[in-house]
Amino acid sequence: MKKLIAPSILSADFCCLEKEIKAVEAAGADYIHIDVMDGHFVPNITVGPLIVEAAQRSTTLPLDVHLMIESPDRYIDDFAQAGSTILTVHPEACRHLQRTLACIKDKGVKPAVALNPSTPLCAVENILEYVEMILIMSVNPGFGGQQFISSMIPKIKKLKAMLEEAGVNIPIEVDGGIIVDNIAQVSAAGADIFVSGSGIFKTGDYKKTISEMKRKIAS
Ligand code: DX5
Ligand code: ZN
Repeated sequence: MKKLIAPSILSADFCCLEKEIKAVEAAGADYIHIDVMDGHFVPNITVGPLIVEAAQRSTTLPLDVHLMIESPDRYIDDFAQAGSTILTVHPEACRHLQRTLACIKDKGVKPAVALNPSTPLCAVENILEYVEMILIMSVNPGFGGQQFISSMIPKIKKLKAMLEEAGVNIPIEVDGGIIVDNIAQVSAAGADIFVSGSGIFKTGDYKKTISEMKRKIAS
């Protein structure tokens, strides 16, 4: 499976969001990761469909929209219409996860599930056929710039084995604390898509950082 880099605009300069998105696109980004937070599911509040729609007009890259919100069902329509390519939800926020995933798919968007560091893999075990990507959170969601939780490495390996055993060929995305220095280890564990916010946007040279990341995940 192709390995992809997904810069999280959470750490971008929102004064010039279009410029920031275009800069990471030119630097080799594969997806644009957008973190939606509601102040309930996570302590922080960030952006909504308005920014997804603006991002969609700023780039041709797929928009990887990570919903850290309670009862995301209420907003699936809005985020689909705004141009989301992938909509990722957390099981704790969905009373009927399979129904939520089916609703996302119904809107022509790829459904994905995110697992918090303490959420076990069995949360997705019975709904694998309805999900097109699984996101392993390697920090507790809510903020950029946190440190990678190293016990997520064996969790990624375990998920990889679980997917192989089930004969399910979907990508594993990892989100939180990914930087040039640890991306090779995350990749070796079995990750396919690497979200990085501060690890890209807080370095001055996006092209150099993304190229280095790509070199490390290719080797
Ligand atoms: C955390 C978000 C992440 C965050 C990653 O709640 O889901 O996508 O932006 O930021 P870094 O890479 O700085 O940990
Ligand atoms: Zn995220």
